[in-house]
Amino acid sequence: MSNIVILTGAGISAESGLETFRAETGLWAQHRVEDVATPEGFARDPKLVVDFYNTRRAQAAEAAPNAAHKALARLEAEHSGRVLVVTQNVDALHERGGTRNLIHMHGAVNSALCAACDHRWEAPMVMAAGDTCPACSQPAARPDIVWFGEMPYQMDEIFETLGQADLFAAIGTSGNVYPAAGFVAEARRAGADTVEINLEPSSVGSQFARHITGPATQTVPAWVDALLAS
Ligand code: APR
Repeated sequence: MSNIVILTGAGISAESGLETFRAETGLWAQHRVEDVATPEGFARDPKLVVDFYNTRRAQAAEAAPNAAHKALARLEAEHSGRVLVVTQNVDALHERGGTRNLIHMHGAVNSALCAACDHRWEAPMVMAAGDTCPACSQPAARPDIVWFGEMPYQMDEIFETLGQADLFAAIGTSGNVYPAAGFVAEARRAGADTVEINLEPSSVGSQFARHITGPATQTVPAWVDALLAS
């Protein structure tokens, strides 16, 4: 099990108090995706979108990494082979939990992006529509979030690593959004073992060889202990 690739979703941050998207009372029950998570929504009402991410940035700052985040950091530190965490989450709980080898494929709420010159910088706690870019001075600052219809980040690196995976795990993701939901098929094509860690089977659950069911703060530390002992 030298190369381990781990995909995480909102479920790994749920026990840190951050809302998931598709739960009954989740983020997509409170906001229309097309209003707050698309380039068209941002063009239509930049203040609504910037305020949506200001709220999520504040909530993420208040949250603490939980036992699942910390267990993945321990796996990376103690496993003899390579561990890569690919997260769909925009919170910084993996970094704050100690993970170093990490890709934020949907962007990060603590990062700001210039729509004019592609410059990135650390986002202020409160962004405003029309903020200027510190590099090109254009009023083109936006949240550095990958919205629906936009290309997720570092896909080449992700697919290259999936092609070399011995073990692929998906933790706390519903398998509803591509390309992330297609990673398990890619890992299987590379001959990797696959495990899904969730409260319930995801939309692509049938593609995983194994399932570990239960809350991430209990299942992930136990899974890491077993991996490190094997
Ligand atoms: N432990 C483990 N899994 C959990 C827990 C928990 N405590 N709580 C919830 N889950 C699982 C749910 O069963 C569900 O499968 O986490 C998953 C959350 O699913 P979503 O809310 O759809 O979140 P996610 O899969 O990360 O969404 C993917 O969709 O809207 C876009 O860009 C957004 O990155 C997001 C992407």
